[in-house]
This record gives sequence, C-alpha cells and structure tokens, in this order.
Amino acid sequence: MDSRQAKDRIDQLTAALKDHNYRYYVLAEPVISDFEFDRLLKELEYLEGQYPQYARPDSPTRHVGSDVSNEFRSIRHKRPMLSLGNTYSAAELKDFDGRIAKALVNETYEYVCELKVDGLAISIFYEQGRLVQAVTRGDGVQGDDVTENVRTIRSLPKQLHGNYPSSFEIRGEIFMHRKAFEKLNEERQAAGELPYANPRNVASGSLKLKDSREVAARPLDIILYHYLEEQQRFATHWEALEAARSWGLNISPHSRKCSGLEEVFSFLKHWDEARKSLSFDTDGVVIKMNSLNQQQELGYTAKVPRWAIAYKFQTETAHTRLINISFQVGRTGAITPVANLEPVSLLGTIVKRASLYNANEIERLDIRPGDWVYVEKGGEIIPKVTGVDFSKRGNDVPAFRYISHCPECHTELVREEDGALHYCPNETGCPPQVKGRIEHFVARKAMNIDSIGSETIDLLYKAGLVQNVADLYDLRLAQLLTLERMADKSAQNMLNGIDASRQVPFERVLFALGIRHVGETVARNIAASAGNIAWLEQASTEQLQQIEEVGQIIATSISHWFSKPAHKQLIHRLQQAGLKLETEHKAADSDLLKGNTLVITGTFLQYSRDEIREMIERNGGKNASSVSKNTNYLVAGEGVGPAKMEKALALGVAILNEDEFLTMIGHGNK
Ligand code: IVH
Repeated sequence: MDSRQAKDRIDQLTAALKDHNYRYYVLAEPVISDFEFDRLLKELEYLEGQYPQYARPDSPTRHVGSDVSNEFRSIRHKRPMLSLGNTYSAAELKDFDGRIAKALVNETYEYVCELKVDGLAISIFYEQGRLVQAVTRGDGVQGDDVTENVRTIRSLPKQLHGNYPSSFEIRGEIFMHRKAFEKLNEERQAAGELPYANPRNVASGSLKLKDSREVAARPLDIILYHYLEEQQRFATHWEALEAARSWGLNISPHSRKCSGLEEVFSFLKHWDEARKSLSFDTDGVVIKMNSLNQQQELGYTAKVPRWAIAYKFQTETAHTRLINISFQVGRTGAITPVANLEPVSLLGTIVKRASLYNANEIERLDIRPGDWVYVEKGGEIIPKVTGVDFSKRGNDVPAFRYISHCPECHTELVREEDGALHYCPNETGCPPQVKGRIEHFVARKAMNIDSIGSETIDLLYKAGLVQNVADLYDLRLAQLLTLERMADKSAQNMLNGIDASRQVPFERVLFALGIRHVGETVARNIAASAGNIAWLEQASTEQLQQIEEVGQIIATSISHWFSKPAHKQLIHRLQQAGLKLETEHKAADSDLLKGNTLVITGTFLQYSRDEIREMIERNGGKNASSVSKNTNYLVAGEGVGPAKMEKALALGVAILNEDEFLTMIGHGNK
C-alpha cells in the first residue's frame, strides 16, 4: 500500500466507523457485528500507527461513540465514561497481563472476571440513599439525563437500605432478558408491528422513549459493575461491589476472583459455553484489576483503562449465496423483504432465510441476487445478512430494484413518510391482508376459534364465503359443506367454535380486531378503562392518551381505525352477532371510591401496580394514567418523579401513599 492509498483507506475507514457508531449508539440499529466493527477499528488503528500524518483529529480510534440525542437534557459526567480495550484472542490477553506485570514490578495482583452484559452503559447517582440521577454514556464526556426512565426499572432500588455512603456514583448496564424480549416481539407482531432485531436494541431504544409510562411497560433489568466515590473507602473492586450488593443494588452473581491468567482462562472457557443457558445476552468477559490502588497505579490511556480489558466471545458468521429476494405482505400491508439463501449451518441450526428489514437496508448492503453474503444471528435469535462479499461478484450484475407494486395484488405500494417501510394500501382486496386479519382474529390469544386454521381460512376466502371477520358469524352449515374435503363433523366443530367465541371477553375482542399498535396488553388496558366500544368510537386522541400505556402513536392509530366507515360497519355487524363489546364488571368489593378517578405512580411495596389498579376498580373507582384536573387522588409509591408530584400539588390533587390508600379501602394495617 502506498501512502496515497493509505490516506484513502484511513478516510474511508474513519467515515464508515463513524457511521457505524451513529447506528449503534443513536439509532440503536447496528448493521455490522461487534466483531466486524472491532476488525475495522483495528485496521484503522494500525494504519494510523503507520501513517500518523493522516490520522484525523476526529478519528473513532480516539473517541467513544456517542448516543447523545437532542431530546434529553445533556449532563456532563463527573468522571469521563470510558470504554474498554477489547480482544478476541488469548495471545492478546497474555500481552495485557504482561504489560500489567511489567508496570507493577514485584507486586502480586489479582483479577476479577465479570460477565460483559450486552446492553447499554448507565451512570447512576445516589444521595442519602436515594436515586437522584441516571445518565447515559453519551460521548463519554456528556450523556443524556434519563433519570425518569431509569426509575421505572424494577430491580433498581429507588431507596437503598443498610449502611450506604451519603453520596456515590455507580455504573452498570441496562439490558433486557431474552424471554422478555421474545414476548415483546410476539406482542409487537401480534399488533402488526415489525419485530426488533435483538434485546440490546430494545433496551437502548426504550431508554430513549419520551414517555416514561411506555418505558415502564418494557421489562428492563440492570446489573451494576463499577462503584466510584471521592473518598476511597474500599480497598478492592470486589469489596466495593459486595457492599453495594448489601445496600440492595443488583450485582452480578457470576463474578469470580482470579489469582492469575490460568484461572482467567478457565473462567472464559466455562462461560463461552455456559452463556448460552443464561437468561440474557453476554458478549464477553471483563477482566479487571481487583485492587483499587493498583487500578490507580496503572491508570488510563486517552480512551481506555489500563487496568481492565474485555475479552469478547466470537459470534459465528456464515458465508453463503443469496438465491433471491422475496417479499412478504403482512396483515397490516407492511412489506418485508426476505433473503432466500443456500442453506448453511450457523450456531447449530440450518439457516435458509434471513430478514432484510426494508428497502433502505437492501440499498445500504447493496445486496444483489447471486451475491455471496455473510450471515449472523443478531442477538443469536433472528438471522440477518450483515454484508456482501464483493470480491465474489461478477462485473455486470445490475443493482437490485425494489418492487413498486404489491407481489400479491399488484397495487402500487406506498412508502411511510418517515419510515423505511413500504405498504400495500389495498386493505380490503389484497388476499394476504384479508386472510392475515382473519387468522389474527381466530388466533388463540384473540377469539380462540381453534377449529379454524389458515387452510380453512384460505378455502373460505376463495369460495367467497368470508371477506372479513364479521362474515364468520353468518356462516351456515350447508355453505360449509360445499367446501372441498369438508366433513360434516369438522363443519359442525367450526360453527361451535364460532359460537363459543361470542363469550370471549371484550379485551380480547379488541385485540382480535387487529388495530395497528394495539397488542394484548394495550387492549387489556383500553378495555378496562374505556368500558365499551361505543366510548372508543367517539373518543378523542386526548382522551385515549389518558389510558395506561397509550401514547400519541397508539391513540392516533385507534382513532384512525374507528374513523373508517368500513370499520364502523364491521363493529355494527359484530354487535348484531352478539360479541362482547363491553367490559363485564366483576362483583365489586365496595363503592368506597365511587365517583373518584385515581392515578397510580411509582412502585409499591405490598401489592403490584396491577393489583392496586384492580382494587381501585373493585371499590368503584376509575383508573387514569396521568394527573389532570379530573383526578381526585394520586396514589404514590416509591420513586415517584418530582414532576408528577408538582403537577398533582399544583392541581390540588390529594396525594396518598400506599398505606393511606389501603386504609381508605379498608385494607389498612391489619
Ligand atoms: S467496566 C472503565 N464491566 O462494556 C470501566 N463494563 O466495552 C468500564 N460492560 O462501556 C466498564 N459489562 O457498557 C464493565 N462487567 C462490566 C461490563 C461492562 C458490560 C460494557 C460497558 C462498557 C463496555 C465496554
């Protein structure tokens, strides 16, 4: 490589790495693996070492990526939040240990090995035992104030107990467990939304939500791993974390003290395999000097500590050929491009298809049928194409052109204004949309008509018997018997199933309608609060937003749905068919709260929020999600944000703590 080429490559790598940092930290949508990122970074580091004259002052080798967005207050870190040097090889770990031994001449030392949680870093301050501030890493120098959102994390104490110092900072990682992630994705898909790629993206996306109520609905967790304080009262990292554990903070139970590299290697070996059975994603192990004095002695480079290093587990990448790109049409009309691959083995499963997400992604990858591509499992769940092996592409392969018309009904596609997604607007005439809505309607979590499967829906649709879900309730035995291979008994079963669905409660009917963004949980909240469908049909978006977990996007989607004449007609027919379109009230405990609207906030000690909400209803009260002039009481648990309290006080709303509330409904201190 001559110096001209080196300069070009440095420029190219700098631009690419900056873009990847932006995608990772700000958009929370990384498009290459950590491994690939680190490879590019190392190449840049190497070239900058060879040609320092071309190293740019804004090079990503000198700065950590930034997640600062403009929507939160920016706060300067008391001490910079650095990243870690990392390695994928045992040889480099030996080098790391060698450097330490050299710097600490004749001293003995000890490491602590910890799992590297794959989430996002957060700095948290406690004053007099109360959580007062939480800030994201940002660019390492300043980050976003996300205190209100972080308060919603249940495993993070808002008030410490025991013998805690009056003021300290503790840093850790916010993440989401795989199970919770899968459940969230199931709900998203059921609500007609696209699934998230991996738990890390959801965790980081969640913290950047503007509405803390929406954050509270995301089951985030936190592990703390770095205690910092002016006055050094602990001798070792280990002791500091043990103390933090005793104050109620969540410290990883998987850490280990290691007296030499041998023990470190056995820890690595164990977790490379054992991590697969953990409930959350780990991308490596962090190896830290245990003694805080020795940490200080070793100090920092401009970017990373010299006393710690991250060893990263390799994610497996497969190399295979893209046969072609096909397109799926979802029940909401959203088009998803899918890569059909020559089958290849990846982490023990055979991968044949991978998601390409949307048109932007195809353009970004510049992927073309026939290409050799790299495939990885994002968060080890959904396989995705991470890159193209351009060295294997022939000269005259034309660029891929995204479809302009629906592959199913040939209607011209529309593109969402701000989004990357294409939609088929032919809601009532596009077969996969119509059939998809019926499939969603009969699904177990919706109307639970298990005698109707997707093949039957296909038959019913083709025979012209069912065009929408209301048609199901007009079906007659004689009509069903005209269908291909339909026996008397299965036809009768179907009718029985349809009949039984008339008893399905309102909340599930609401979910079954398939309104965009209305998943199971949201449907339950809406049913509980709206009471009946007539209220929903005429509710304004402001009124809708009073409902728990309903923000502007969901509210708009609901009013849009109900504004369509075809949907009004559909509701009318479902009403005629005898479906439950209002909430059935369980026998009340009392009417002590009759005529009162209550808002609950914070975390409660004796009951869950859902239980408190239910108690309010069973005693004749109404739940609302935010304080307004119509609120009578704010029931405040632990860790309530000052903004909420101030608003309640300003509006003259009475504030009750958990005990006062329980006393009020006669459940008080027994
Ligand atoms: S220590 C100066 N410990 O990994 C000390 N970091 O690649 C820096 N991480 O920014 C952090 N688990 O977001 C540390 N047990 C652990 C960790 C951990 C995950 C993250 C953290 C950090 C990044 C560095």
